[in-house]
Parts: sequence; C-alpha cells; structure tokens
Amino acid sequence: MYRTHNCGELRIENLGQQVQLSGWVQRIRNLGGLTFVDLRDRYGITQLFFDQEKMPELSARANKELGREFVITAHGKVQERSSKNVKIPTGEIEILVESFSILNASETPPFTIEEKTDGGEELRYQYRFLDLRRGPMQKNLILRHKFTREVRKYLDSLDFLDIETPYLIKSTPEGARDFVVPSRMNSGEFYALPQSPQMFKQLLMVGGYDKYYQIVKCFRDEDLRSDRQPEFTQIDCEMSFVERDDVLRTFEGMAKHVFKQVAGVDLNYDFPKMTYQVAMEKYGNDRPDIRFEMTITELTDSAKKPEFKVFDEAEYIGAICAKSCSEYTRKQLDELTDFVKRPQIGAKGMVYLKYNTDGSLKSSVDKFYTTEELGVWAEKTNAKPGDLVLILSGSKNKTLSALSELRLELGNRLELRNPDEFKPLWVVDFPLLEYNEEEQRFFAMHHPFTSPIPEDLHLLEKNPAVVRANAYDLVINGVEVGGGSIRIHDQHLQEKMFKLLGFSDQEAQNQFGFLIGAFKYGAPPHGGLAFGLDRWVSLFARVDSIKDVIAFPKNNSGKDVMSDAPSAINEKQLKELNIQIIKQ
Ligand code: AMO
Repeated sequence: MYRTHNCGELRIENLGQQVQLSGWVQRIRNLGGLTFVDLRDRYGITQLFFDQEKMPELSARANKELGREFVITAHGKVQERSSKNVKIPTGEIEILVESFSILNASETPPFTIEEKTDGGEELRYQYRFLDLRRGPMQKNLILRHKFTREVRKYLDSLDFLDIETPYLIKSTPEGARDFVVPSRMNSGEFYALPQSPQMFKQLLMVGGYDKYYQIVKCFRDEDLRSDRQPEFTQIDCEMSFVERDDVLRTFEGMAKHVFKQVAGVDLNYDFPKMTYQVAMEKYGNDRPDIRFEMTITELTDSAKKPEFKVFDEAEYIGAICAKSCSEYTRKQLDELTDFVKRPQIGAKGMVYLKYNTDGSLKSSVDKFYTTEELGVWAEKTNAKPGDLVLILSGSKNKTLSALSELRLELGNRLELRNPDEFKPLWVVDFPLLEYNEEEQRFFAMHHPFTSPIPEDLHLLEKNPAVVRANAYDLVINGVEVGGGSIRIHDQHLQEKMFKLLGFSDQEAQNQFGFLIGAFKYGAPPHGGLAFGLDRWVSLFARVDSIKDVIAFPKNNSGKDVMSDAPSAINEKQLKELNIQIIKQ
C-alpha cells in the first residue's frame, strides 16, 4: 500500500492516527535539529516532520538522501504543529515520520515547482509535465474538468446526445486555413482536420438526431493570439425544429448552470441582447465588455469645421467620456496618445476636452473651437465637471475600433474591469456578408450555412450588403465565448447563398456536394452554436491566456516545444506519401 490518505486530506481531527502518504518532495527545510519536508500531490501539501532527537538515523537519512521532486512514501503519526500555517488546509497538522522510502529520485528541476515559479514561459512549456505539478495549473485543469462535467450533466438532462464526428475530413473553406493530412492509400490526396464539425452536425440533424453536442477538438491554421490556439476545444451543439430564441434559451440555461455550479455565481436574470449595430456604434466592437459604461458618442456632425482640417476631412469623429479624469496630467494624456498611435491601433492622434471641476472647458484644440462649441461636445458626451472627453477621428471602422481599444485601456487604468464580476450578453443580428475589397467579393461573416433573418430575405439579391444574419454570439466580459446561427435548410436558398459567395455550381458541388445532396432528402429546420471551452474556462480561472487552461498547449509560433512538433519526417515516410519537400 502506498497511501492511506492523500496530501490534502488530513486535519486536526486526525490527530494521533497512523497514516501513510506518498507524493513529491516540494521543499526540504532544516532548522537546527528539525527537518521539515513539504510533501505534494494534486490534492495539496502536507508537512512531514523528522525528529532528530527521537529518530537520529531516520533524520540523517532524510537530510542526506532526499532532494526536490523525489517521489517518496512516508509512514508516521499525525500530530499538531507547533507553528501553524493558516494558508493551507492541512496547516494545523504534520506527520511525525517513523519510516520512509524513496520510490523514485529526480534530477534537480529546471525551475521551482511552487505556486509562484521562476521559470519563463518557454521553459515551462518544455517541461510541461513539471509545470503541471504546480498548484495554479492543477487548479485550472480541475476547473476545466468540472466545467465539462457540468456541461455534460446539463445537456444530458435535456436529452442531448454526445455523438462523435470524424477528424479526417474533406478540406472545406470555413474562414481560417485548414491543416491538411496526406493520405498514403490515396496518393496525392489530402484530408483536412476540421475547423469545426459544422457540416457533420448539420448532417446529424438530417439524420434525425435533433439534439446533438460534442466536446470536440477543432483545428485552425491561423495567426495565434492569447485567446487563440491552432487546436482548441469547442462545446459544439445543434438542435432541430428550433428558432433563434429556442437556441438562446437552451444555452442561456447552460451558461447559468455552469456559472452556478463551477464559478459559484448566480445569474438569475435574462441575459441582455444587443444588436451588432449597437455594439459597433456604442462599443466600437462586436464583443462589448459591458462591465462598465464609457460608451462611444459620435461627434461627426458637431465637430466638423473647416478651420480644423483633421476633423473636417474625417469620415467619422467619435468620443468617450472618462468620469473624474479631468485632472489627468500632460504625461498621462501623452501616454494615452501614444497608446492610440500604436501601429496595431493606428490612430493618427487624440484630441482631449477637460471639463474642469470649476466648470471651465480646456481642450487641445481650443484655438479652433469656441467655448460654446466645446460645450456641445461636453453635452453630447454627457460630460460633467471633473470629466475628461477623448476624441478620435478618421475612417469610420478604424476609428471605432481605436475608440474601443482606448475605452478598454481606460477601463483597465481606472479598474473598471473587475475580474470577479461577470456580465454576459447576446450579440445578435450580425451582417450576413462581409465585402472583401481585395478579392472583390462577399464572404460569409459567420459561415456559408447561416440563414438570413426572414424579414431581410427579399434583399438578398437587391442589396446583399444590408442583409442581417440569423446569427448570435455569447459575449462575456469582452470575450467572444461562443457563436452560432439558425441554418439554411432549404437547398435552393443554400445554392443561392453559394452563388452570392462567388462559388460556381461546379465549385459548390465539389466543396459542399454532400451537404447539398443531403438537403434534398428532408432537412429539418435547425440551428445551433459552439462555445470556445478554453476561452470560457480561462475567464473562470481569471487567467489572461487560454494556454493556462490547456494541459499541453502550443507556444506562440504554434510549436509544442516539449515534444518538438511540428518537425521534419523521414525520407521513408515522405516516399510512402509520395511527397517531395521543395527547399525554399
Ligand atoms: P466559431 O468559429 O465562432 O463558430 O467558433 C466558436 C467559438 O470557438 C472559439 N474559438 C477559438 N478558441 C480558441 N482558439 C481558436 N483559434 C478559436 N477559434 C474559435 C470562440 C468562438 O466563439 N461552427 C461554428 C459554430 C456554429 O455555427 O455552430 C464555429 O465554429 O470562442
């Protein structure tokens, strides 16, 4: 027997018991005649105590033989600690060790394996198996487990079936680039890894499985960010005989269930719905963080004036009002100007208007504008004495997006984005199509299977750019946690959609023939959505990167530095696949 208890289990009630624990040596402390070892497993840490006076030989052995990360098993008696550690649940007791043995030695680990580590990110990824022993990683993975357990419980209670779909599929355009896999048996041909199970879940609806879900890996070859991994996990769902609000109700229920069961947060209200248009105009962004106000006010009409060329020539002028910030110093304003001028944000400059507490107005452009004119800006932005109005101008989309970044930055600086507060909302009525100037054609904003909202159907040929999609996203604290749509289930409408997206009949047939074919055999009305599991769990875990909630993530260049993937394959493998590498 290796253990009677785990390392997180023993309490003051266990005093006097004979126990055996096994785990890893986190720390050894030798305090003149007393030796303490922190023994760790995934349940916690228990202090082992070696008494040099009573057990001189045993203590000497411990001091001589034990090292960090050795795996040991120890037998002894639970006793009360003389100096208690209130920070850990086992902190009132220790084990007076009577015997121990080393189950496995360890090399000195390359970084400290404790709550806070001195290991840099790359080193921790290279030795991820050691990083995983750390408390914060254990906490995150256990949280992830609880999350998926609760999702399964909830969906099972509503009769959803967990059905697997294939990973080796046909390459189909879905937005990002596909990862492709060569086929040995079909020389010169390739599978793709699914960007999502989208078409398969729709085929399951045709197959009659009216409530489907799957917690499933998806693969996208796209540029990585803190909230993007090349392989990530979706909670993928689809339902038949539903309209938009049926889907939203079902999954709002799931959201409330996981919030309560996993995060201990009661959200007993209807999640607000905001149209895409309002989100863009008020927050500059289709995933608004509604934990704080500071919304955008358009000033295009009131701020244009020939004397001030920058505004006069701008397509759009917009402002945000930061409450109680009129005392911002030159330095603070310069910092914000530098922030919006960063290449990734791309504003040319920033204009400010201070509404001083004495009621006077001071602006960086007051030589061009009268006090009355500045007063109009203050009024429109609802500024009060003590507030600071920040104004950006330029092309509409770019300026809205820069205002959005500025708003979030100020939200951080003013600590308005409380990580312990959760504010979910549904963003609805996305545009169906996006026009790509470079390629001179429309792309589906969500994916080609998304149906237009019924009132806009008649505009599909006349004015496709204004047609709204029956699509929705769940946004929490500025993070797009999930999205989906009601699908097209009519083959003629689907064909029309492919045409609008620039696919010839032949191309549509080649790429999506099996779906078009299936729609000829009685496809029910259906719709669904998919949640980004990694993103949602990272919100609950209060971490900035989804890598912290994934056991074995890729680094920012898409590499697994632990196993060294991707890597070259040998000549024999290449030959079998009939593949030749062309050196650049
Ligand atoms: P979508 O592409 O919006 O929809 O993806 C759904 C959710 O998956 C998460 N997500 C990601 N998470 C981590 N890394 C990535 N690279 C990544 N890409 C997406 C996001 C996103 O909201 N088939 C449709 C869903 C549907 O219509 O039912 C789809 O995949 O949280």
